[in-house]
Amino acid sequence: MRNASIEVSPISGALGAEIQGVDISQELPGSVIAEIRQALLDHGVIFFRDQKLEVDRHKAFVRRFGEIFVHPNFRGTQADPEVVNVVRNPGDARIVGEQWHHDTTMVAEPPMGAVFYAIEVPPYGGDTMFANQYLAYETLSDGMKDLIGKLNVVHTDRNLAGPRAAVSKSRSTAVREDADWQETVNLHPAVVTHPETGRKALFLNHSHCVAFEGMTEDESKPLLGYLLEHGHRPEFTCRFRYTPGSVAFWDNRCVKHIAVNDAGPFRRVARRIQIQGTRPV
Ligand code: SIN
Repeated sequence: MRNASIEVSPISGALGAEIQGVDISQELPGSVIAEIRQALLDHGVIFFRDQKLEVDRHKAFVRRFGEIFVHPNFRGTQADPEVVNVVRNPGDARIVGEQWHHDTTMVAEPPMGAVFYAIEVPPYGGDTMFANQYLAYETLSDGMKDLIGKLNVVHTDRNLAGPRAAVSKSRSTAVREDADWQETVNLHPAVVTHPETGRKALFLNHSHCVAFEGMTEDESKPLLGYLLEHGHRPEFTCRFRYTPGSVAFWDNRCVKHIAVNDAGPFRRVARRIQIQGTRPV
């Protein structure tokens, strides 16, 4: 599909499209940014290849879509608070984003998206998978839609950061684990309406969600577990194989993702910058 200046090629039936014909390190005209934004809304996650993105140009591109979101759990662990260098070294047992998740949903206003730039790519492994949460919602029965349409979900970062989670010992990308770290907890609806497309999406993820509001974790488990697994059925997904200079730009409001932990003896390095979002409703 050719828009006015970019070419958009879907990579699966569910979501995801590669964008050709644009160098995102350049100061792009507003009309091209509008086309890229539309492609993101249409496909949930978009990919660019062979980009040369120094950190200042990476930030400049991100700022065309919103303010940079500073991740609270990487504050002080990374040289630049606006950037998360996602590094996986040989021997790392754990990696960033190894469960299906929306990013950083423990905060009241989670990021609307992220722009992820692949710098060093293993010869095989290290892909990211994405899942379309509009489809996850739309394929539920009317009874289930009615039931979960009334529910709020407890989102926390207690399994991802802090001294108790202690994840940094088994991976190269450290998070805050100092004694001053405090858990962040917020409630979000199980079903959200995308602020730009107006479509309903399932908004639950393995990394952050522990219970429904007003229920114990044990009581929540059967339904929560069902919805979490349903959210990444194969027919809702796409998988992206990086080459150096690839960029993935995902819409965190309607897409979940997972970093596949299969890079074996290889190093993988990427730079992620997140974009401020609004309160999910
Ligand atoms: C993330 O969850 O933001 C990291 C994705 C990846 O490393 O593939």
